[in-house]
Amino acid sequence: MGESTLFGVKYPIIQAGMAGGATSPQLVATVCNFGGLGTIGGGYMSPNDLRTAIQEVKKLTDQPFAVNLFIPEQSFTAEEIAIHSKRGMELTQTFRDRLGLATKTVEKVQESFEQQFQVVLDEKVPVFSFTFGIPSGDQIAALKAAGIVTCGTATTVEEAKQIEQVGIDTVVAQGSEAGGHRGSFIQSEHLPLIGTMALVPQIVDHVRIPVIAAGGIMDERGVAAAFALGASGAQVGTAFLTTTESGAHSLHKEQLLQNNEANTEVTYAFSGKAARGIRNAFIEAHSSTRLEEIPPYPIQNAVTQDLRKASSVEGDWNMMSLWAGQGIRLAEQLSAEQLMQKLTKAIPRL
Ligand SMILES: Cc1cc2nc3c(=O)[nH]c(=O)nc-3n(C[C@H](O)[C@H](O)[C@H](O)COP(=O)(O)O)c2cc1C
Repeated sequence: MGESTLFGVKYPIIQAGMAGGATSPQLVATVCNFGGLGTIGGGYMSPNDLRTAIQEVKKLTDQPFAVNLFIPEQSFTAEEIAIHSKRGMELTQTFRDRLGLATKTVEKVQESFEQQFQVVLDEKVPVFSFTFGIPSGDQIAALKAAGIVTCGTATTVEEAKQIEQVGIDTVVAQGSEAGGHRGSFIQSEHLPLIGTMALVPQIVDHVRIPVIAAGGIMDERGVAAAFALGASGAQVGTAFLTTTESGAHSLHKEQLLQNNEANTEVTYAFSGKAARGIRNAFIEAHSSTRLEEIPPYPIQNAVTQDLRKASSVEGDWNMMSLWAGQGIRLAEQLSAEQLMQKLTKAIPRL
């Protein structure tokens, strides 16, 4: 493990792009200034907020950083949104009543990817990472023309091969231990839930682009394991959530520090898309709900938005989406610099 050339950073450690507010410019810049790759989780940001976050990061560091976005999948007509969201409202009625929330009509379900993407190009961000799919050929050509390094997310060998085939520079192998949404984008009857230990070497054997391991990596032992499996880098999410600089909600941080490896599960309940989080009343209430009954992503995400917000305002973690990976017991209250020191302990100092 010598000097890293991955993304032009000193240490091949990537602070995961985590949409929803955790990746403050301070967190991103601290990781970059230490020599890792910090990532702005821009998935839920308006194009304007994304531009502001990028400009703030640029003020705080002159090192490479990344922006992560969600590749849109299905699009829905206004009528489909109305039908699905009505069902979502009914499904979550008990919790809405508990929080005194009126039934609402969902109109906008997600930010415009095209506009977010334009900001990435305009701002010439050094690295663009993405999940839930693959950008179009034109978009990939535009990224290349702008000199932006690209990084996709795969949860199977087949997904990694597709990412390589379209000319993406690097791929994150996201194991099932990972906190947050599954990046799976090839539709199959069963959601692939392949652990990091099994996934990384199989992807490494089938693509030529650098592979970055993600899922359950919390300290230098996880980083060493990732390299032993053939990865060229390690992407870390959960461990950064409890750092001082993280913008994660205080209740989220509290629960991360109090729960353990047996307390997370993969749920569709909050967003209509599979994601791993800390089990709470909302997840439990939907544990026997059939998948077909839950509105698809991103409609269910929009349906539960006010509910999650109201729950956090009430100080009740039971209706919040507390994304977390299976390494959760190893989460510590540290500064981002202390965490980077820990993660890079097994990498020779340069
Ligand atoms: C709170 C949270 C939000 C996340 N949001 C995103 C995201 O917006 N985009 C993305 O590609 N991955 C996202 N992820 C997944 C991470 O990229 C990464 O795969 C995962 O955190 C690795 O596993 P770990 O949490 O065990 O470190 C998120 C993870 C967490 C914990």
